[in-house]
Amino acid sequence: MGGRIATYPRHVGDRAGTIHPMTAADLIDRFGSPLYVYEEAGLRSRCRQLVAALPSCALLYAMKANANPSLLSVIREEGLGIDAVSIGEVMRARRVGFATEQISYNGNNVTDEEMGAVRELGVHVTVDSLSQLERYGRLFPGTDVGLRLNPDIGEGHHDHVITGGPEAKFGVDHEDIEAAHCIASRHGLIISGLHQHVGSGILEVDRFVSAMEVMLKVAERFSGLRFVDFGGGFGVGYKPDEEDFDVAKLGAEVSHLLARFRAKEPDVVFRFEPGRWIIAPCGTLYVTVTSVKRGKRHTFVGTDSGLNHLLRPALYGSWHAIENVSRPDAPAETVAVAGNICESGDLFCKGRAVPKPEEGDVLAIRDVGAYGWSMASSYNLRPRPAEVLVRPGGPQVIREREPLDAINH
Ligand code: LLP
Repeated sequence: MGGRIATYPRHVGDRAGTIHPMTAADLIDRFGSPLYVYEEAGLRSRCRQLVAALPSCALLYAMKANANPSLLSVIREEGLGIDAVSIGEVMRARRVGFATEQISYNGNNVTDEEMGAVRELGVHVTVDSLSQLERYGRLFPGTDVGLRLNPDIGEGHHDHVITGGPEAKFGVDHEDIEAAHCIASRHGLIISGLHQHVGSGILEVDRFVSAMEVMLKVAERFSGLRFVDFGGGFGVGYKPDEEDFDVAKLGAEVSHLLARFRAKEPDVVFRFEPGRWIIAPCGTLYVTVTSVKRGKRHTFVGTDSGLNHLLRPALYGSWHAIENVSRPDAPAETVAVAGNICESGDLFCKGRAVPKPEEGDVLAIRDVGAYGWSMASSYNLRPRPAEVLVRPGGPQVIREREPLDAINH
């Protein structure tokens, strides 16, 4: 690899809305490459936009998107709660200081031990099948429980993330609601809340609203509900011609709907649990070019990262903006940007015009704050990158690069 990286005009800062006078080069010089970099101001701003768009609703951050404790602390300071899906997530949220009442747990295919451990921590449990409801009732008769419904409507950026409809493994079908009532009454359970999640990466507000209407119709068949949770799934515009899911429009379109239901059930709390929308645009993965190979069909730009650090392109064919921050004004070349993992699918993009990359250049892969580090692995026994948070006072390491020793045991 080339020596020191030259200085770049591009400052850290992106469409999340902040500019910090530190360049990508400074960050890589200080903290090494590859590097996940997040921006606090952008994160706060997105939390505030959500709170403003959905007043009087509970906003639970789906921490599976990114569970770094420092980022969770920022989100907690902005007043959001947590959507957790495992005992590990519940414990992390507790450690960061979320109160038990701020955490909602809804697991899928979980064990008795896990349900028990979550309850032990004082966190409310939502189950997502009749058999889990039955088991919950046997273990904890006379308590309250939430029920996840299959919304019958599915939506998402890829088949793998559509969680509603007959192909999805999640939730109780609407036809089985009577059976759920029977199980609940047999064990003296109170169904205190309903939950659904249509899918992930939804860009059309109207689709989401339709699913909410379906949910509220079903909710009328229950009484005394403490919460109705419409899930998350708000998409972001990864591509230049895509817009983020419009949360202000959602708020405006559903306020009547919610008010009408609340007139009948005044104590109900409406919940949303977005993950991606809050944090995806706040993160960039900086990688360094380690080789350029002009092959018969493609120019492969090799980097020091790969699908072990950002799985989304390989797993879903996801598109992330890639910029050459070392040489933004170089003439464009059509390239495939590859990682250093032993799989042919280890590509961040293919057939993409990028300012002509050379060895030693730093590339910025954008919008990776959600499902980036959280889905990273040590595949090929390569350590996971460090994470840095750019705060008003300067950048701060919020997770050290994984030491080689940690994966050699
Ligand atoms: N609530 C539930 C029950 C969920 O299953 C999910 C995501 C969310 C909320 C948050 O969804 P979001 O607002 O972040 O779209 N790895 C995939 C996304 C998987 C999402 C799984 N469930 C990706 O990289 O696109």
